Amino acid sequence: MTGGQETFTFNAENVEKAKDVLAKYPEGWQESAVMPLLDLAQRQNQGWLPKAAMDFVADMLGMPPIRVYEVATFYTMYNTKPVGKHHVQVCTNLPCWLRGSDEITGQCKKSLGIDFGMTTEDGMFTLSEAECLGACVNAPMIQIGDDYFEDLDASSTKSILDELKNGASPKPGSRTGRHTCEPAGGLTSLTGKDKDAGGK
Ligand code: FES
Repeated sequence: MTGGQETFTFNAENVEKAKDVLAKYPEGWQESAVMPLLDLAQRQNQGWLPKAAMDFVADMLGMPPIRVYEVATFYTMYNTKPVGKHHVQVCTNLPCWLRGSDEITGQCKKSLGIDFGMTTEDGMFTLSEAECLGACVNAPMIQIGDDYFEDLDASSTKSILDELKNGASPKPGSRTGRHTCEPAGGLTSLTGKDKDAGGK
């Protein structure tokens, strides 16, 4: 865990968002808000949580700081070290591996010139290895920031990273054209006109 900056406090916008988050929990159970508050803090702080931010959340919730550190270091959605502008997470878990995640990993390393756990010198990209990101049906996939890019191969991975390098915003979702996680060959049921109304 990295110490980083000395102080942290929510900006005015996040003070209001934190109030909304806390209001969702019954009196006496505010500690349950630790995850959304850490997420708010991370978004405010360029995608990572210095110790000061975790301490701030602990103080806000009246929790021992160690319990906040435990949460922040357990879940890979929290970064306790600085990350680049684009955090590229490659899923290498079994379904993605069986569908070619080695090829995706290789292309990311080649395109970015870095290995897992590293950030490019210009601070634009951090490359991480992730366990299952919950999109196995569209394997192999990567997560960049909040977006999922799915049904990838080396070529589509390169084009996504090239777009980001050029300041563009690549379209998330499947790269083979299928709609969300429908069967790769198209729908096999609920194919009638009224499918959106429940297939009646
Ligand atoms: S194994 Fe990659 S998303 Fe589940």
